[in-house]
Amino acid sequence: MNSTTSAIIIGGGIIGCAIASELLRAGVRCTLIDKGALLQEASTAAAGMLGAQVEIHHPGHFYELCRWSQQLYREWTEQLQRISGGVSPQYINEGILRTAWDEEDERELRSRLGWIQDAEWLEADGLRALEPAMAAGIRGGFHFPNDHQVHPVHLAKTLQAALYKQGCTIREWTPAFGLIERGGRIAGVRTSEGELLADHVIVSAGAWSPALTAPWGIELPMFPVKGQCISVRTDAPVTRKTVFTKGCYIIPKQDGTYLIGATQEEAGFDKRCHVSAVSALHAKAAKLLPQLAQAEFVGTWAGLRPGTRDGLPFLGAPSKAPGLIVATGQFRNGILLAPATAKLVMQLVTGSRTELDLTPFHPDRVLAAAVD
Ligand code: GLY
Repeated sequence: MNSTTSAIIIGGGIIGCAIASELLRAGVRCTLIDKGALLQEASTAAAGMLGAQVEIHHPGHFYELCRWSQQLYREWTEQLQRISGGVSPQYINEGILRTAWDEEDERELRSRLGWIQDAEWLEADGLRALEPAMAAGIRGGFHFPNDHQVHPVHLAKTLQAALYKQGCTIREWTPAFGLIERGGRIAGVRTSEGELLADHVIVSAGAWSPALTAPWGIELPMFPVKGQCISVRTDAPVTRKTVFTKGCYIIPKQDGTYLIGATQEEAGFDKRCHVSAVSALHAKAAKLLPQLAQAEFVGTWAGLRPGTRDGLPFLGAPSKAPGLIVATGQFRNGILLAPATAKLVMQLVTGSRTELDLTPFHPDRVLAAAVD
């Protein structure tokens, strides 16, 4: 790659930061801009599950993308940790138990047996043999031994330190007002600090992305999906594995806390937490792991997942705007999809063949659907 090639990445969440790091490794000069501080929105509100099996309910292209990213994860985090000078993202390889909540949930889970990989079905006593703290009355479910986890706040610190070491130009508190066109190509961004120009512009601004692309006729039907979470602490350890059931998961973190998540609400850009929602989450968690009933309350927060109407991310170069790449809409899987997304964007920027067919995720699919 010609070292004079340059890119501006709009949106400093996990996806934007991962893209910048990957491009810098490929020799592309990068400027990363964000309307606020880096890694402050969905990226650090996330739970950190690398749940390629637990989170995906159908076989197909999206499942394959998630599985590939999961396979890249350990090496990706090790590399970032090395570049950062040793900042650990707290990768934990303990797997996830997905227990059925009721008969209908069990039927739906069992229907995945035809296609799901990397999973074993266990009856209730098999699940309790792995995690004895689970309630006596639980149903059967899946053990996903390779659905690991990271701590999103620590991953953010690792990525941020790596980006500084890699020489990324970072402009925080610099909102992007619009894209600039020169000679028929997207060539830059108008920001609160003036115009920035580059060979490639990448929009990875989560639920804030459509406002930048819409003036160019690129509709990205996206919407924020609020997730409220709580964190609790117990006197003695409760589980080593993440325990997941319909509408609730409990993730043991390295600092001895348990993250309990998450609601899924379409409430605009409202990030307030509500007692009714977090207490319902806690009640569900304590039904599954009764020791959590007496846990110490640590905190609560909410993040806005970037949702899309068909549940697929937008990833590719829109035909209406040469020079532009879109990488957003990862919904519940932004942490998981960071390494694969970064690699694919790097391949688009450097003109290499992408390792995965991006057709199902292409931003043009909205236009095609409108014509059909
Ligand atoms: N990936 C977990 C969540 O979005 O709640």
